[in-house]
Amino acid sequence: MDFSIKTHDAKTSISTLKSGCIAVGVFENKKLSPQAQALDKTGEITAALKSGDISGKPGSTLLLRAVSDTAAERVLLIGLGPEGDISDKVISLAAVCVARIAATLGANDAVIALPFTAIKERDQAWAIRTTVQTLRDNSYRFDTLKSKKDTAPAGVKKFIFLATVAQTAAAKEAVAQAIALANGMDLAKDLGNLPGNFCTPTYLANTAKKLAKEFKLGVEVLDRKQLEALKMGSFLSVARGSDQPPKFIVLKHLGGKAKDAPVVLVGKGITFDSGGISLKPGGSMDEMKYDMCGAASVLGTFRAIAEMKLKLNVIGVIPASENMPSGSATKPGDIVTSMSGLTIEVLNTDAEGRLVLCDALTYVERFKPAAVVDIATLTGACITALGHHNSGLFTRHDSAHDGLANELLSAGKTSGDTAWRMPIEDSYQEQLKSNFADMANIGGAPAGSITAACFLERYTKKYTWAHLDIAGTAWKSGAAKGATGRPVPLLTNFLINRAAAVK
Ligand code: BES
Ligand code: MN
Ligand code: ZN
Repeated sequence: MDFSIKTHDAKTSISTLKSGCIAVGVFENKKLSPQAQALDKTGEITAALKSGDISGKPGSTLLLRAVSDTAAERVLLIGLGPEGDISDKVISLAAVCVARIAATLGANDAVIALPFTAIKERDQAWAIRTTVQTLRDNSYRFDTLKSKKDTAPAGVKKFIFLATVAQTAAAKEAVAQAIALANGMDLAKDLGNLPGNFCTPTYLANTAKKLAKEFKLGVEVLDRKQLEALKMGSFLSVARGSDQPPKFIVLKHLGGKAKDAPVVLVGKGITFDSGGISLKPGGSMDEMKYDMCGAASVLGTFRAIAEMKLKLNVIGVIPASENMPSGSATKPGDIVTSMSGLTIEVLNTDAEGRLVLCDALTYVERFKPAAVVDIATLTGACITALGHHNSGLFTRHDSAHDGLANELLSAGKTSGDTAWRMPIEDSYQEQLKSNFADMANIGGAPAGSITAACFLERYTKKYTWAHLDIAGTAWKSGAAKGATGRPVPLLTNFLINRAAAVK
């Protein structure tokens, strides 16, 4: 799929543009957008509206062929709702409509001439990024393990956006940024969808090394011996039951000034979560191959910011392991000592995410981070709380953390990859009390996603920290089963905004 910007003088009519398809907007009450008007020399679009073939409501579409005095072979009308009220939601939906229809057309190229400059509270660059992201998202397939590939997708291969001379540079940058983001999301999706017998801790480590080579990033992979020397007793207790060796991955994108403190991303990398001795029930256990989506989002975000050459220091850390039952696996009641020195009573071996993350969160103290964000498919309880729409966002509640939380929330909104803030409070911390160790690794049924965050919070006292629980957002179940690439858009936008702020 190819995207480009065509500099177009606003004075010449878009009706002269040759293409397989041109997409323009129409409003409710049979009104045409300026672009639709330019193609309506003989009144055919007005006639289509009058006939009631398209309502003009958001989500409505109509494809016309061979419109008179229009060089494009097809005109795709897209409903935009009431005139003068083009919200970001309306444009996002319009992009979905373009993507759905473009995928089925016999056309090779399409001009997108929607009224991007009239959008409320956002700009043309935002609209271009959103459209590119939607088109790429829609065209994603994972068929590398099918012997007979899905039939080659038909549809539009080349998309052209229009911009005036003054808008062209910003529009080109928007396209480049959106492509880098889409490449990052594709990597996150591929890693998520790849099953546990392929996507092992070693595979994640090799992916990090490959990325590092391609984009000249720093990379280091620590093995079991080195983790023992670091006294990561909590992380290693999760890896005990598996035949696959654990890997601890450190990736460095140092695009900022040498003295600038880095942002650190920590991704949960459980390449398969069987629950361990506290074995999960069999139904949909296959989906626990997605338990490394936090790690995948870190690798995907690095793919994106490296391609963008982002001027910011960012370090990615991934504790990667399987969680399996065996004769050497950790047992319920076992007490382990984390790298911080704190002891943990493992009451449930299925609460393994926090056990691998706590040692990674202690490890990253050495970077003296400007901020640490961990990303994890941490709790089923987060799905109960927020469903599949929002990732759960947890931080302490003070001014430094409110600032970080707001940055992440706003980055989520801008990129359509939203999060919702949840509380961390001492009253929940009490649920983690253990009679035999410094803490238990579970806090009982009530508020499961909050007690999990409270567990992590204990290991993050030395820096500003946020936790994203992506259990509900990283993949889809059912007929549309597959990784979503979330929260790569949120994280990438957050980092782009940080880079702009330190300039
Ligand atoms: N990876 C799971 C969380 C999960 C479960 C994400 C289902 C998405 C869908 C995590 O390791 C886990 O098993 N958490 C337990 C915690 C419990 C034992 C306190 C859970 O959520 O049930
Ligand atoms: Mn688990
Ligand atoms: Zn897990």
